[in-house]
Amino acid sequence: MRILVTGGAGYIGSHTCVELLNSGHSVFIVDNFSNASVESIKRVEKITGKSVNYINADIRDEKALNELFKRHNFDAVIHFAGLKSVGESTEKPLMYYDNNVNGTRVLMSVMEKYKVNSLVFSSSATVYGDPDTVPISENFPLRTTNPYGQTKLVVEQMCQEVCSANDKISIVLLRYFNPVGAHHSGMIGEDPKGIPNNLMPFIAQVAVGKRAFLSIFGNDYNTPDGTGVRDYIHVVDLAKGHVKAIEKLHNKTGCHVFNLGTGRGYSVLDMVAAFSQVSGKKIPYQIKARRAGDIAQCYAKPDLAQQILDWRAEKTLKDMVNDSWHWQVNNPNGYE
Ligand code: NAD
Ligand code: UFG
Repeated sequence: MRILVTGGAGYIGSHTCVELLNSGHSVFIVDNFSNASVESIKRVEKITGKSVNYINADIRDEKALNELFKRHNFDAVIHFAGLKSVGESTEKPLMYYDNNVNGTRVLMSVMEKYKVNSLVFSSSATVYGDPDTVPISENFPLRTTNPYGQTKLVVEQMCQEVCSANDKISIVLLRYFNPVGAHHSGMIGEDPKGIPNNLMPFIAQVAVGKRAFLSIFGNDYNTPDGTGVRDYIHVVDLAKGHVKAIEKLHNKTGCHVFNLGTGRGYSVLDMVAAFSQVSGKKIPYQIKARRAGDIAQCYAKPDLAQQILDWRAEKTLKDMVNDSWHWQVNNPNGYE
């Protein structure tokens, strides 16, 4: 298939491009490089031995998208482009609604115009808010506590409504749990700008000596060791989930929703111990107050993806930590 990948230079997008190319698909990337570098695309080409076309454009730029869709005959779109920082979204909600919601609206209207009827969208487990129980199934109530999460919910709803209005359209909403790790080559990985918000890149920077210690946000949660529990999923497993979704469902009309997680939760202290073991480095940490908006535990019931997509996460916690460490050691300053 000829697949347009929005945000394909980013963390999850670049890994998905590798898996798409390895499965024989062709990819074209549109990215505004607001949180990525062209170097990641060059590395995708090196890993796969295949060339990747891209344009530097914003998905809100309707004219640029029109030109692109006019010139290429895409079979499907995988849509990663968006802003993803929960903290920043509470400070700049309008920027998040514009980029994530308006950007998706522009993209979908151009898809409609050029009759490209298949879309896979990056949603998030954040749409479940603070769940009443775990593991979390796709039919759990949806509620969210921050503007970032709200943009994901609004786009999900928009997709449902577009599918109701047009019976030729197929949309897959993939709700990711906590993506971590990197390609085993150590050539592509997560390259956060500034101080990382997320646990895994922060631990990696402590291990490599870039930061003095990890702040653990609360050890008084109702979890086995008191620290927050999450469903960490290797980014390559996640990427393969997209290949399955596009291959199995691009002709199946309607709106399909899947959790992409492992079904297993690990605590912050589990992650620290695993990273310390793999890297052979001590990870100094300090217990701090809970981070506003955090929840005690969040992990998936991943059975639906297994039944319908024939997909399940295969990589272990050790793989996730090994590959993060490999990427961090090879690229201490990211793609710079
Ligand atoms: P990322 O920031 O690495 O990738 C996003 C890419 O989109 C970047 O390359 C960025 O330059 C590009 N981009 C942003 N706005 C754009 C625009 N208006 N036009 C064109 N390009 C634009 O993030 P990621 O971790 O790869 O996340 C990809 C998607 O998955 C996002 O939609 C994110 O919300 C979602 N998601 C991520 C996580 C996570 O923890 N990483 C969890 C759940 C969902
Ligand atoms: N944590 C720390 N110290 C840190 C960073 C994180 O103790 O420096 C803890 C958090 O309190 C939490 C756990 O590590 O218990 C994981 O935190 P992350 O920030 O890595 O991930 P979150 O679960 O908070 O959020 C992530 C993404 C969201 C997405 C959500 C569900 O950042 O965008 O997963 O997919 F919505």
